[in-house]
Amino acid sequence: MIVNDQMKVVSHEKIAKNIFELVLHGELVNQIKAPGQFVHVKVGTGIDPLLRRPISIAAHNQEEQSMTLIYRAEGKGTKLLSLVDIGETVDILGPLGNGFTVEEGESKTALLVGGGIGVPPLYGLSKSLIAKGWEVKHILGFQDRSVSFYKERFEELGETFIATVDGSLGTKGFVTDVIQKEAPGFDEYFSCGPTPMLKALQSRLEMKSGFISLEERMGCGIGACFACVCHKQDDPDGYSYVKVCSDGPVFPAGVVQL
Ligand code: FES
Repeated sequence: MIVNDQMKVVSHEKIAKNIFELVLHGELVNQIKAPGQFVHVKVGTGIDPLLRRPISIAAHNQEEQSMTLIYRAEGKGTKLLSLVDIGETVDILGPLGNGFTVEEGESKTALLVGGGIGVPPLYGLSKSLIAKGWEVKHILGFQDRSVSFYKERFEELGETFIATVDGSLGTKGFVTDVIQKEAPGFDEYFSCGPTPMLKALQSRLEMKSGFISLEERMGCGIGACFACVCHKQDDPDGYSYVKVCSDGPVFPAGVVQL
C-alpha cells in the first residue's frame, strides 16, 4: 500500500561530494516489500519546487521502522532537501514501484553492478540476497573518488570491485572494464545506474540473465502522467511501452529499449 508519511529525520550526513545519506523513521517502512523500490520526497513547504523527487530506498529496517535514502544534491529540490535537520520531518510518498525479486539462492552467486547514484538500492538488495543464501559480488562505478561512497559497507557483504572514470579509485574506466579485467563468475546479475551503463552492461552480458533498474525522469511517480514511459524492446507498432514508475523501475534485462 502506498502511504503518505511525515517521516522524522534520524540522521543526515554528507558522505561524499554532494552525496547525502538521510535516515528517516516512520510507519511507511512497514509497507516496503522489496529492495529497489523508491519513494517520492516532497522538498520545501510551498508549491516551489512543485514536483516531488524520486529517491530509491538504499536500505530499511522494519523493526526500527527506519529507512536510508542516499541522494545527490544537484538540483534546486535536492539542495533544499540537503538542508533538512535531525528531528525535522520530511513528507514522503511511497513505497513506489516494483523492486527486485529475491528468490532462494543457495549455492548461487549474484553480481550486483551499480553506477553513481544507482549504487544505493544495491546495498539493500545485497543484504536481501545474502539472507536468501546467495553469494554476492559487487562492481561499483563512480566518476571519481570524491563522489564514491559505501565501499567498505559493500566489502563487508562480499567481494567488491570499484571503477572510476579517472582511475582515482579502483580500476580506471567503467564497470564493463572491471568485468573484462576480473571476469567475475556469477549466475545472475542485478544492476542499477545511468542508461548508457545499463546498455553497455546488457550487451556485454547478453548471454546471462539479469535484472536492471532504470533511472528515469519522473513526474507523478504513480503511473498517471506518462513522464517516465520507455518503449519495449519488442515494439513493432511503436505503442508497446512501460511506465518506469509503476511497471518498474526493475525489469528483466532485455525487456526495455535502452
Ligand atoms: Fe507519472 Fe511514471 S512518473 S507515469
